[in-house]
Amino acid sequence: MGKPIQRVGVASAEPEGWETSRIVADIRKRNAECVVFDVAETVVRVGGTQPRIQYKKEDLTTLEGVFTRAVPGGSLEQVILRMDTLHCLERLGIPFMNRPHAIEKAVDKYYTLRLLEQAGIPVPRTTVTQYARDALRAFRRYKDVVVKPLFGSGGVGMTRVSDHEIARRVFRAHEANRYVMYVQEFLEHGNRDIRVFVIGEEAFAAMYRIGSDWKTTIRQGAQPKSCKLTSELAELAIRCTKAIGLEYTGVDILETNQGLVVTEVNSSSGWQGLQKVTKVDIVKRLVDRFFEVIIRGSSYR
Ligand SMILES: Nc1ncnc2c1ncn2[C@@H]1O[C@H](COP(=O)(O)OP(=O)(O)O)[C@@H](O)[C@H]1O
Ligand SMILES: [Mg+2]
Repeated sequence: MGKPIQRVGVASAEPEGWETSRIVADIRKRNAECVVFDVAETVVRVGGTQPRIQYKKEDLTTLEGVFTRAVPGGSLEQVILRMDTLHCLERLGIPFMNRPHAIEKAVDKYYTLRLLEQAGIPVPRTTVTQYARDALRAFRRYKDVVVKPLFGSGGVGMTRVSDHEIARRVFRAHEANRYVMYVQEFLEHGNRDIRVFVIGEEAFAAMYRIGSDWKTTIRQGAQPKSCKLTSELAELAIRCTKAIGLEYTGVDILETNQGLVVTEVNSSSGWQGLQKVTKVDIVKRLVDRFFEVIIRGSSYR
């Protein structure tokens, strides 16, 4: 037996949030101190004698491990500083679940899709470009598309376009505002998708998300419904998790007439909806894995 884990951190944009408060309670039940910090509110210093990375009165450089619930969005500079801060903590030897490098891959929808494709996983045909003319060419090829923010979540800010004139106006507005255009073929899925939750190397729960329209995210009002975790779903979700290098994730899968297609692999997946339809104690499984990562290191180097 090694020495017990004494003091760990949870990086969260919502310290009082449903998921964060449950993770923190479970860690404290195990007699470890838990520092909940919003990475946006850290102060980082170079030189001098004060702690190098501080949140309120806490010195984050002496944590034994960090569980990343979510890194808040912001301007490009802010996000880069927040990610740099996590990278610096990791470089001091602090184990992470999920690792900053994996979070960077997962928040970028293009980067994720490319890695999935390279791993042989079916993904929707997608064109990513900075110019309206190229986006319009992709629209003509796919005919019915979903235009997504590169770094979005919860279905916010994404739109379905099937009219040529609207496509032209949308892309021109994107170009004028210097947005990257992520243009993806729309795949019919009957207003339902599948979310598979993976922890470590195990997929252990799945749910249908039933929407009232094509956006099937819980944030857009979709309802969770239990779904049998077949070995096909489990294997697919694990391959996605490994391709990105995440320790825990929710994988979004569409059932289409081309078979199962993956649209997204999330680095800060919530599980409030999933917990309603599964008996597995998700929080316990997450913290078990977190402590394993601290003791034995992450599976992903
Ligand atoms: N190519 C697509 N065709 C049809 N529906 C899609 C497509 N991509 C996404 N969706 C729908 O939109 C939802 C959100 O898309 P997703 O790529 O997972 O982004 P987010 O990060 O916002 O969750 C998906 O759960 C799915 O219901
Ligand atoms: Mg999603």
